[in-house]
Parts: sequence; structure tokens; C-alpha cells
Amino acid sequence: MDRAAALAQAVAALGGPRLVAPEWHPLLASTSDRVKQLARAGAAEWTAVLAERQSDGRGREGRAWQSPAGGLYLSVLLRPGAERAALLPLAAGVAAAEAVAGLGVASVLKWPNDLLVAGRKLGGVLAEASSTGGGVEWVALGIGINVALDPERLPAELRSGVTSLHAEGATAASPEGLAAAVLARLGVWYDALREAPSRVVAAWRERAAPWWGTLVDVRAGGTALRGRLVAVDDDGALVIELPGGSRRRLVSGEVSQVRPVAAP
Ligand code: BTN
Repeated sequence: MDRAAALAQAVAALGGPRLVAPEWHPLLASTSDRVKQLARAGAAEWTAVLAERQSDGRGREGRAWQSPAGGLYLSVLLRPGAERAALLPLAAGVAAAEAVAGLGVASVLKWPNDLLVAGRKLGGVLAEASSTGGGVEWVALGIGINVALDPERLPAELRSGVTSLHAEGATAASPEGLAAAVLARLGVWYDALREAPSRVVAAWRERAAPWWGTLVDVRAGGTALRGRLVAVDDDGALVIELPGGSRRRLVSGEVSQVRPVAAP
């Protein structure tokens, strides 16, 4: 059995969704680009694509996602409809955090869906939607987790801000086992998005980095804002309090950066 078929079997054994035509490539430009290509050709929900390495991995806001060997690079095609699409990135963050917790690594979520351990980035989620007049047609949901990443292979400016499962002492993290756990948990939270979306937000809040009250600089849609972190509301938007006391809701698509203001 090849690696992709073994993954489908492992996901099913965990009670997760039935993967459609999974692919596991030695090298791809980006697993999300491949999923988008398949989506445009009419592929079904839970079409899954993985790669050992990516030559053009992408993060949020057009940033590059360094993708050397030793990482999990996974994208899956979902068709959530407009009502479920907004909370999907949060659901994916919770699923990824739960999967790494299963390997003994406690991470927290930085809105909207960065996985952090002691302030260092362990993983991230990139949700790219295609919409028509009728609403969201599909979402290419990409998840990247640093498994056995060697920091020496990263650009110097990234080394100190990044960690990996191995560096955090994870119990035997194989990409197959981790991918199966992420997809199985994603299946659970994807169902919850339809049946009880408030549970997704509650689960996200439970795992959120304890930054509430922190003064942050936010870059949103080309504008720089400074305010205190107040909450994530029931629609998954970040709420900040501006200096005059007014509150502003920020949705994940418009925000490129949330950074604590450095002490003077
Ligand atoms: C972020 O934190 O900026 C999101 C990173 C998402 C990276 C994953 S790796 C698999 C998929 N393919 C990509 O090119 N990006 C996502």
C-alpha cells in the first residue's frame, strides 16, 4: 500500500472522514495550489494532498512558508458553504492543536490560527476560498506543522521564532500519524461547524494564547491600529479596544499581523 492509501486507512481507523483520492508527493510547489487545481476540475470534498517538501510553500498574507523535509504539508478540499467558511480557519487551528497535543506537545492558538509553543511558531493554517455570486464554492485548507524541522536549514531571521515537534520533545511524531490525527480531528470540528458552531469558538477560546488585555499593533487592510485585545466573538472575529474606548471587530481575511507592543 502506498503512503497516501495508508493515510486514508489511518484516518478511517480514527473515525475520521473518508479521504478522496489522497496524494502524497515527494515534492510539490504547494499542496494548496494542487488542491485548488483539483477543486477547479470538480474534485470532491476531502480530496487531500500532502508533500514531503514544497518549493513554493505559502503562508498567510502572501508570505512564504519554508517547507524543507521534516514538516507536515497538508491541504484538503472542503465545500463548507458561506455559513461554515468563516469559522473554518478556527476549526482547523483547534484540530491541529489537538493533534499535536496527542503527541505530548501543548500549543496555544494565536488568532486566527497560528500554533505557538512558548511564543515560537509550530504551525499555521492557510484557508483560501473560491467564491461565486452564490457564495463560497470551495476552500483549499492548508495546514503546515514543523515536525522534525532543522532550524539550521531556515533563513537566519526565522530561526529563533520557530520550533518543531521534535524540538518540543514530542513522542514519536511520524508525518503519517500526525496527518491522520489532524484530519480526524478536522472531521470532528467540521461537523461541529454545521451542528454547533458555538462549540468551535468555545474550543478555540480554551486553547487561545492568554493575551487578553495585551496592547497590540494590528495591521488590517493596509491600516495600522493599536489597541487592547478584548476577545474573539461568536463569529470568530478578533475584537480590540482602541485608545478612545471604542471597539473594533477584525475578520481574519483583513488582518495581516497582530503583534504585542514591545515594552519601552
Ligand atoms: C501561516 O501561518 O501563514 C499559514 C501557513 C500554511 C502553510 C501550509 S503548508 C501546506 C499548505 N501549502 C502551502 O503552500 N501552504 C499551506
